[in-house]
Amino acid sequence: MGAGARFAGGTLASSIDPGARAVGERAREAMERRTFFKVVLGAGGAAVAGLLGIPGVATILSPVLRRTPGALWVPVGRLDAFPPGEVRQALVHAPRAYPTDEALRGRAVYVSRVDPHEVVVFSRSCTDLSCPVLWDAGSGWFLCPCHGGIFSADGRPQAGPPSRPLYRYAARVRAGTLEVDLRSVPPML
Ligand code: FES
Repeated sequence: MGAGARFAGGTLASSIDPGARAVGERAREAMERRTFFKVVLGAGGAAVAGLLGIPGVATILSPVLRRTPGALWVPVGRLDAFPPGEVRQALVHAPRAYPTDEALRGRAVYVSRVDPHEVVVFSRSCTDLSCPVLWDAGSGWFLCPCHGGIFSADGRPQAGPPSRPLYRYAARVRAGTLEVDLRSVPPML
């Protein structure tokens, strides 16, 4: 009861013996050191996390930061030159205004209107090792002469080494002209 009365009167410090005060001081200093280390470690941890986070952020943003050239739309021909129900080969040319696109300058493509309600423009390159495939109207297959790859009329692999379908160009029709984006398939295909 007496001790309680001393606490209430604000005489706690004077009522504690010097030995106990020294122990209390050491405990307080130890606590301050722990707090200091926690702050330092916390800051260090945040810095490390930040450093580790940078590649992740860069990875997420890289498609934006990377210089991505825009679409390169080129005409394939008048849409009515490709009759419904057929697959026809056509040549497309990159315009001279794109001097860095020498590899894209001219290439053969297949325009498929096997589905009359859809126009599909295939790359001629086999998805195995890029040999040019040939459309065989008799069988209705794209045939690869190199290793016997066979693709259906909609481009899906049917036999041989290819495991991926034929590449399809992004295509659109403007004022009756079929156009493809040459950059919508990998270069050299
Ligand atoms: S390149 Fe066509 S099957 Fe190998």
